[in-house]
Amino acid sequence: KGLNLAAKAAKKLYLGTATNSEEWNDTTYYSILEDNAEFGQITAANVMKWFDTEPEPGVFTFQDGDVIANFVKKTGKKLRGHNCVWHNQLPDWVVNGTFTAPELAFVVERHCFELVHHYRGQVWDVINESLNDDGTFRSDIFFDTLNSTYIPIALRAARRADPHAKLYINDYNIEGTGAKATALKNLVKSLKRQGVPIDGVGIQSHLTVGQVPTTLRQNMEEFVALGIEVAITELDIRLLNTTANEEGLARQKADYETVISACNAVEKCVGVTLWDFTDKFSWIPTTPPNEGYPCPWDENYVKKPAYEGIIQGF
Ligand code: XIL
Repeated sequence: KGLNLAAKAAKKLYLGTATNSEEWNDTTYYSILEDNAEFGQITAANVMKWFDTEPEPGVFTFQDGDVIANFVKKTGKKLRGHNCVWHNQLPDWVVNGTFTAPELAFVVERHCFELVHHYRGQVWDVINESLNDDGTFRSDIFFDTLNSTYIPIALRAARRADPHAKLYINDYNIEGTGAKATALKNLVKSLKRQGVPIDGVGIQSHLTVGQVPTTLRQNMEEFVALGIEVAITELDIRLLNTTANEEGLARQKADYETVISACNAVEKCVGVTLWDFTDKFSWIPTTPPNEGYPCPWDENYVKKPAYEGIIQGF
């Protein structure tokens, strides 16, 4: 058994996880991560982001990302590149930069090109979190300087860097239908109309137990109907004001099963990535006794009911 084996047996899906190499000193963690029966795909949780890959203008530092890429190669897993353009974890020279529109267009283009070119042959989250919950574009250095033109600029640079890369737009709160998901569907349509390369939408899925949208599957079908694929890219399901006792964990199991089976039911949902797999290293803070605990393995690497929920979802 194992999560990735269950995923593969079900259809063509992969089951993967995000990771930070600082976690690898923990030998139990490493042995689970490395096991291809559990994980067939890896996303770098941090080290391929802008602050780490271009800390100074035009100075590219891929050492940290290469540690992840080499691990992926050695273990025969797939890599998901994350990410090219995002408002967070930017170096100061970008956030505090005073760029004209042509200057920032060049900066975005160079960053996406160099990053995707260095990690060729991958899937890339080219654009991350470009929308607000109401469906308008997020105000950040990119939008404020370039309007939404930074999106085609980034996607086209990524395509030139690697004609074979799968190029995604990734976001949260687009798991169910609603204003934000609709805006993203319209964005994809408009990009396609303009001939801008776009291959997929990444549905982050940082969810809360008891609040999983009921329209997950319908929403994915609507994205796929635009002629793209979808992936669940950052799944975790936190407990919130519910108890980490048997009841809370059983509801968490059911919610994991719901999400996985929605992806499994959609022909072009290509796989699922957990945003790390143990409560020990999750980015979601755990506040005992009843908040957090979002992962299928607990902080002592005991498999929670959620683990079985994932397997049953496939
Ligand atoms: C998170 C990392 O897991 C944290 O370690 C870091 O401090 C902040 O970023 N959406 C994303 C991811 O697209 O890149 C974020 O990762 C989680 C939310």
